[in-house]
Amino acid sequence: MAQYQHVIAGSGLIGGFLGGIIGQSARVSFIGRPNWLGRLAEGVTLTDYAGNETAYKASAEECLSELPTKIERSIIWLTVKNTALEEMLTRLQPVIAPDCIVVCCQNGLGAAALARKYLPGIRILQGIVGCNVVWNESLKQLQKTTEGEFYLEQPEDLAPELTKVLSAVQHKLLMLSWRKDIEAVAWAKLQLNLANSINAIVNQPVRTMLLDRGCRQVIAALMDELLAVTAARHIRLPKLTRVPARYLPAVLRLPDWLFKRLASAMLHIEPTARSSMWWDLQAGRVTEIDYLNGAVAEQGALSGIACPINKSVTVLVKSLETSALVATRRPLDGNSLKFQLHLE
Ligand SMILES: NC(=O)c1ccc[n+]([C@@H]2O[C@H](COP(=O)([O-])OP(=O)(O)OC[C@H]3O[C@@H](n4cnc5c(N)ncnc54)[C@H](OP(=O)(O)O)[C@@H]3O)[C@@H](O)[C@H]2O)c1
Repeated sequence: MAQYQHVIAGSGLIGGFLGGIIGQSARVSFIGRPNWLGRLAEGVTLTDYAGNETAYKASAEECLSELPTKIERSIIWLTVKNTALEEMLTRLQPVIAPDCIVVCCQNGLGAAALARKYLPGIRILQGIVGCNVVWNESLKQLQKTTEGEFYLEQPEDLAPELTKVLSAVQHKLLMLSWRKDIEAVAWAKLQLNLANSINAIVNQPVRTMLLDRGCRQVIAALMDELLAVTAARHIRLPKLTRVPARYLPAVLRLPDWLFKRLASAMLHIEPTARSSMWWDLQAGRVTEIDYLNGAVAEQGALSGIACPINKSVTVLVKSLETSALVATRRPLDGNSLKFQLHLE
């Protein structure tokens, strides 16, 4: 029988990084925009903060601007943003064969459920990228800038052959962690991503934001709401960071001097780094807010837990999405944000 192929559907930061790793040991095709296909065809280096690196170059036949007319016996790594997912799933519907497996790699909540709705009969797995990846244009590098593994849903009945094919994503640059509790991992990752919106709103580098206690207090309040929702649902959050999920809000609320001493690892960030949501706002793109803070508020409502801060932050980001002044606005400090959110 023919070997499984790998297809990256939406080759950007995550698609390029996952595909570059898989391409070390297996054949991969990339579906993407011309800018990313050009980078992959010219050759990129994948790096991490620990000094590991590996090169990858896609061949011209492996770079496609459209989905092929038929995709069979393939692992499809779905790496578009949540905001582009519905369109990609609609395009996949007529071309995907039942022997394919789709791995949804989006942050936040809801991607796998949406894929199951659009692709009934296809096995859908959830994958969670625990690290950050950025592009360095001058070095032509896809840089993994933080710790974090690739968490992949492990169903009870996965055939050994498929386990082996999916393990192509395991590499010294990205450890693969098979998870039976993928829903809990998704919530734990979401807890960390709640700060992205605050970074976008305050219009400051991530490090500057974390050094501002007012900003940290807002992030802690967002996390408290998520922790209340997961507690109501009896979801036990796995530990994705040095500090266990339930203690993170307390650490964030520490006075600056103690926070700097106890949470120094959180501050080991490139001083100019910003969240992807900030970049989306600056570029006038619709953000993933509905799948992050918005999803906490929505799921909270379903469990009878009010999440007013996540709701207000969602509204605030949406208003910035449609503001003509977003690119020229001034930075905001944490206390002003607390005032805006009625968080005194
Ligand atoms: N970057 C990170 O560090 C990171 C870490 C963990 C998780 N994630 C999550 O991973 C997901 C992907 O994020 P990302 O940062 O990799 O996004 P990204 O860099 O924007 O990559 C997605 C790419 O897919 C392209 N695309 C969208 N629809 C397409 C279509 N129909 N055909 C071909 N290409 C299409 C996009 O092009 P356009 O821009 O033209 O739409 C973009 O180039 C998100 O849910 C994100 O939250 C990201």
